[in-house]
Amino acid sequence: MPDRAVTTTRSGETALGQRLGGMTDPGFNRPEVHAEDALLSRRSIRSFEDKPVPNSLMRRILEAARWAPSGSNIQPWKVHVLNGEARQRYSDAIISAERNGENRDMEYNYYAPEWREPFLARRRACGFGLYSAMGIAREDKAARHEAFIDNFRFFGAATGLLFWIPSDLEHGSWLDYGTFIQSISIAAQGWGLDTIAQGALGEFPHVAHKMFEVGDDFTLIGGMSIGWMVEDNPVNQFQPGRIAVDEFTTWID
Ligand SMILES: Cc1cc2nc3c(=O)[nH]c(=O)nc-3n(C[C@H](O)[C@H](O)[C@H](O)COP(=O)(O)O)c2cc1C
Repeated sequence: MPDRAVTTTRSGETALGQRLGGMTDPGFNRPEVHAEDALLSRRSIRSFEDKPVPNSLMRRILEAARWAPSGSNIQPWKVHVLNGEARQRYSDAIISAERNGENRDMEYNYYAPEWREPFLARRRACGFGLYSAMGIAREDKAARHEAFIDNFRFFGAATGLLFWIPSDLEHGSWLDYGTFIQSISIAAQGWGLDTIAQGALGEFPHVAHKMFEVGDDFTLIGGMSIGWMVEDNPVNQFQPGRIAVDEFTTWID
């Protein structure tokens, strides 16, 4: 074992130096955060302060996240950063679509059509934990629905992102997209920001396509709320666990 923490290889340091050099000054001090600490401290946050992420900081996060890997480096991402009136307009439009009973016409299936074990139990545990953190009884459907609608308010965050992917791309590009979304979350975490990825923000693509004039050649994946968490909201205390490494790993020599 080396006697000091080796954070990167020489070629990694070269890439880091070159890439850091051209980046936007976000106007915030850059804390020293180990990559592992950023991974371990990231949690999905569901109550944010009404405080916009300045464009300089948002740009800086995207400048980091764009280094996410993608097959053949095709970089299939397209992002809308919603602030101020635009964020409010989108929230209002999808909330009224929901209240008017408009069709949730998500452009892809997030989940398999039938729930089965072990995923069903994990999903239930997640929902149960979340609603009990919020003090909502399991059978209180109306309160659960209102809690769900909070997704459409970006959980109070003043800045939100929408994620689009070219509609003709295949599974591989969706894999790429996952690395990109997590990269945004981790880059944000490094700057002391909180995030939550939200499939729910893709529930009314007809609204988003119309409002943002994006043609059918793009599919709305969903979005993200980003900003600073409300520390003392109990919903933010919810911490779903994880299965053990040996439950999903086979060691083969
Ligand atoms: C792609 C993606 C979409 C998600 N969509 C939603 C969503 O629409 N609403 C929500 O409350 N949480 C959403 N989540 C958050 C998950 O519920 C959360 O990641 C999971 O419960 C684990 O919790 P943690 O992120 O706090 O560790 C999403 C997560 C991912 C990765």
